[in-house]
Amino acid sequence: MGKKIIHVIGTGTIGEPLIGLFVDFREKFEIDEVTFHKRTPLKGDRAKIEHLIGRGAKLAVDEDKVKDFESLGHKVSFTADEAIERATVVIDCTPAGNKNKEEFYLKADGPKGFIAQGSEFGFGKPYVRGVNDKALVPGEDRFIQVVSCNTHNIVTLIKTICEDDDGYILDKGVFVCMRRSNDVTQTSKFVPAPMVGTHDDETYGTHHARDAQYLFETLNIKLNLFSSAIKINTQYMHSLWFNFLISRSMSKEELVDRLLANPRVAVTEKRYANLIFSFGRDHGYYGRILSQTVVVLPTLAVRNGNEIYGFCFTPQDGNSLLSSIAATLWFIDPDPEYVDKRLNPIRRWIYREI
Ligand SMILES: NC(=O)c1ccc[n+]([C@@H]2O[C@H](COP(=O)([O-])OP(=O)(O)OC[C@H]3O[C@@H](n4cnc5c(N)ncnc54)[C@H](OP(=O)(O)O)[C@@H]3O)[C@@H](O)[C@H]2O)c1
Repeated sequence: MGKKIIHVIGTGTIGEPLIGLFVDFREKFEIDEVTFHKRTPLKGDRAKIEHLIGRGAKLAVDEDKVKDFESLGHKVSFTADEAIERATVVIDCTPAGNKNKEEFYLKADGPKGFIAQGSEFGFGKPYVRGVNDKALVPGEDRFIQVVSCNTHNIVTLIKTICEDDDGYILDKGVFVCMRRSNDVTQTSKFVPAPMVGTHDDETYGTHHARDAQYLFETLNIKLNLFSSAIKINTQYMHSLWFNFLISRSMSKEELVDRLLANPRVAVTEKRYANLIFSFGRDHGYYGRILSQTVVVLPTLAVRNGNEIYGFCFTPQDGNSLLSSIAATLWFIDPDPEYVDKRLNPIRRWIYREI
């Protein structure tokens, strides 16, 4: 293989830390170059862009915006089209991944693979690190959708709690996603009142359970899932209530042991989202917790032997970072040992306890 180049499109809540992480770990991931695309030239974003360039990433912009970016003092290294064509892996971190796929990615021969994020249903095979890695087919899957952060949480709980040696013991899974209003990086859509979501999907309620089902379908597993969502007036973290009806009895000890045994699950005694968020700020990678979920142990309950209840928090822009990095490494070399080994340097942010 020639030069290994990672190209990130979008510098928002997901793109910005991902670009930073790839440049920081370039050598350990054995990557030659990190490039990124910024769409809008903005004075307010100048410091962010210069910081990313200073750390070693190279800026690409649309051809008709080169002068605008240069007049802000930025060094533009590539046009958007050039950057896509010369990349090994393209990671779309915009809410327009499907549109970009139609307009650009399907026409590009250079990259080995393309990754899009949570909102881009249908972009490619849905993926969560540690849940359906074996569903990725080398040479066949060129488009991967890293599903949303709450879907990461849901599918990880299902796999951890409900997978037995001879299959899944889940009869029904119900979830309430209590979503934070917006990220600390975002300034729009804040209304200081809880807003309940509608159940637009007759079968699954909201996209969270639907996406979880589509992800399990990549493993030929059909589940009975339903989710609801409510947006609440906090910027800290998403919270998730879950209820599993399972086909055999499970003790509370077994439930806890299962959660403790999964290295991608963090457990906590903390019941406040701000304390989990604050742990991320103090100990995480630039504030990010890379665990798939943070389960609150004192909230776990088992009723009638086969009904499981609990609350957890979603590391909203950390769990999808981990899956995006793992999927990128998989495109570079699909050998599971290669991916595992390359992920070692960032494992210290995949917490077991918070
Ligand atoms: N936020 C989270 O916690 C989170 C968690 C998991 C998954 N996701 C998913 O990640 C994706 C991005 O979310 P985000 O929260 O990072 O969004 P965001 O903070 O709003 O940032 C969006 C970025 O995309 C760029 N952009 C938008 N449309 C574009 C286009 N057509 N072409 C090129 N660039 C474009 C914007 O560029 P300019 O500002 O330069 O115009 C901006 O940098 C979504 O699919 C979302 O579902 C988000």
